[in-house]
Amino acid sequence: MAVVAVAGKVVVVTGGRRGLGAALVDEVLARGARKVYSTARSAYTDDRPEVVTAELEVRSAASVAALAEVATDVEIVFNNAGILLPAPLLTGDFERATETFDVNVFGPLRMARAFAPILAANGGGALVNMHSVLSWLAGSGAYGASKAAAWSLTNSLRLELARQNTQVVGVHAGFIDTDMVSAIELPKATPAEVAARIVDGLEAGATEVLADDVTVAAKAALSGPVERLTISAAR
Ligand SMILES: NC(=O)c1ccc[n+]([C@@H]2O[C@H](COP(=O)([O-])OP(=O)(O)OC[C@H]3O[C@@H](n4cnc5c(N)ncnc54)[C@H](OP(=O)(O)O)[C@@H]3O)[C@@H](O)[C@H]2O)c1
Repeated sequence: MAVVAVAGKVVVVTGGRRGLGAALVDEVLARGARKVYSTARSAYTDDRPEVVTAELEVRSAASVAALAEVATDVEIVFNNAGILLPAPLLTGDFERATETFDVNVFGPLRMARAFAPILAANGGGALVNMHSVLSWLAGSGAYGASKAAAWSLTNSLRLELARQNTQVVGVHAGFIDTDMVSAIELPKATPAEVAARIVDGLEAGATEVLADDVTVAAKAALSGPVERLTISAAR
């Protein structure tokens, strides 16, 4: 499989208006991306000539299809959009769990299904999916469970997309300083740092990116007793 360099490529970043998505847009532009489709759930503008903004709701197959109809030149997909809805699994509203899975798991799947033929037609390219260190540590209500599912989804998509030479990258990260975790007073990586590590991994041909030390430690503990994975980041 050819390693995917970002320079000259056409990219889509879901949730590119803010948070980590905005940093990914900045990072791929800094590395010479030719065009970036950057999405948000409502219309917005970006003055940079390489950026094409688009409305996208990843819970809607029709919305994803509308984007795919326009963005037929895409070579790299970043499935970045995600939600964290704080609510206990046992006593919170059940809809919070279903919405979490709809955005964090079925959203990336809708994008993968719509864009796989486009990536194939454009030479294979790459699909980058955003998970979390909570894919392994669990916690945060349905969020950790959804990110575990997203991790497995990525690995299964990698098997199916191998035949069309699409590089599939799964990203795990601890706290990143964005709106999602603004209420949490713990050390956080900057979105720019994490975006740089993601694109470094993509360009190095990686299948997995571990974006910070907490994530590296969690991965290393996976073959041991499950109690070793119960660290504070999971609370
Ligand atoms: N922050 C962390 O500590 C952390 C750690 C590990 C992994 N992550 C993951 O990193 C990714 C980015 O998170 P973030 O920290 O940047 O979060 P954020 O600041 O809350 O931003 C969430 C992004 O997702 C988009 N989005 C949410 N629901 C959507 C939907 N239904 N359809 C389309 N777009 C939707 C938002 O778009 P709008 O502009 O329309 O609101 C926004 O751009 C997520 O997958 C998250 O789970 C975050």
